Amino acid sequence: SQKNKALFIIFGGTGDLAQRKLYPALYRLYKKEYLSEHFAVIGTARREWSDEYYQDVVRDAIQDIADSDDHAKAFASHFRYQSHNVKDTEHYHTLKRLADSLDEEYQLEGNRIFYLSMSPSFFGTITSHLKEQKLVTDNGFNRVVIEKPFGTDYESSKELNDEINASFDEDQLYRIDHYLGKEMVQTILALRFANRLFTDSWNASSIDNIQITLSEDLGVEERGEYYDKTGALKDMVQNHVMQVVALLTMNPPKSFTMEDVRDQKIHILKALKEPDMSDVSSPEFIRGQYAESEDGSLIAYREEDKVDTESMTDTFVAGKLTINTDEWRDVPVYIRTGKRLKEKMSRVDVVWKKTDNELFDESPTHLTIHLGPKEGVELFLNDKKIGPGMDLTPLPLRSLRSEETIEQSPEAYEKLILDVLIGDETHFAHWGEVAESWKFVDAIKKAWKESDQPIPLYPANSMGPKEAFDLLEKDGRKWVWNP
Ligand code: BG6
Repeated sequence: SQKNKALFIIFGGTGDLAQRKLYPALYRLYKKEYLSEHFAVIGTARREWSDEYYQDVVRDAIQDIADSDDHAKAFASHFRYQSHNVKDTEHYHTLKRLADSLDEEYQLEGNRIFYLSMSPSFFGTITSHLKEQKLVTDNGFNRVVIEKPFGTDYESSKELNDEINASFDEDQLYRIDHYLGKEMVQTILALRFANRLFTDSWNASSIDNIQITLSEDLGVEERGEYYDKTGALKDMVQNHVMQVVALLTMNPPKSFTMEDVRDQKIHILKALKEPDMSDVSSPEFIRGQYAESEDGSLIAYREEDKVDTESMTDTFVAGKLTINTDEWRDVPVYIRTGKRLKEKMSRVDVVWKKTDNELFDESPTHLTIHLGPKEGVELFLNDKKIGPGMDLTPLPLRSLRSEETIEQSPEAYEKLILDVLIGDETHFAHWGEVAESWKFVDAIKKAWKESDQPIPLYPANSMGPKEAFDLLEKDGRKWVWNP
């Protein structure tokens, strides 16, 4: 573990993500000795903070998980703060001096991780300055971690990508999609490709449909300003949902290298049929927005802080995806995600066709993969009911991870930051994937805009608008999970 040496420069070091996710993740890596003496962190943002104050903030951020006060203190002593205006060239000189001196103090051998956790409108400015003002070293690795949103549509994401590519190569870029760091999302590949039962039946001749639900009980909280410009389609579908779709339907990669995995995912995303939105009263992708809850205890989206009182922003999306490959053409993938739904639950349901024999009145076999916060796998088979005759009874095979196991498994950010440290890009979103999923999402966005229909409302604490149920009903199907 002594070999992981790096200086992290975090742009947006005072921000919410840094405090909620990054500092705890770095601390966990420190606790497990993936990071030890040879690391340092520079936090930057506009505001003026002292090193002492910054280190206090870092200690606060890890207080629930720290082994002891001394250990937290030792960890926080690796952190420095530098007030920084990303547009001011002079400021990069100051930053470089600090970076070079920390490099020497902690013997970091020129390894640098530039973590961009701020508005993407600054990504281009930052990356070009990093290069020009020589914060990029010659002796070590230089990696850039980029937080979403990566653009707001295909055009802007392409522009952003070109800007960044002017200073850094694709193999230096780590676009975070934290779903790819989740243990249970990575498990999808193990389940699919390490079990003959599934390798032989995970295809259109056996599977009837696939359902993906990423539901949240919370509303927009303090993020009204960002969210009202973004909406569920861009916040959740463009990235997390599309990645999960790709993992569920891609062909086996030749190996778990970045190139092989990426190529298989891109193959799927390129094959997505543009959704049919021609019937404006029941398009293949529907949206919704939460209204006040039926009992009046939860306010409507439009009443939320920093949200336009006439907002048309989608807080819910449901849709039907068709993958135009021989393997998948006839298998719909239904997806839904939204805020202020009944429960926080990310899950996948794979529903098989019924058997061809007509011996039984069977329920279709289905597999549920719980991605979080509940984690585990359930397979629902048919069993014979004890007693005379040949009646059936459900046979659920359940393997849910205990609270303790979940607690002890590495958290998504921890896994992904470790991947950045060791230079493994397998679990990141590569440009080709990002580009394809933006094109898909743009088409939906455009259709909604042109349809000029009012946005369907759903009461907070429900499972979305009626349209989300109609979507499956008109195909003679139902959501497997219907709390
Ligand atoms: C983020 C979105 O990417 O994912 C949030 O911006 C959302 O709006 C979050 O709440 C959900 O992630 P998780 O891991 O809690 O399912």
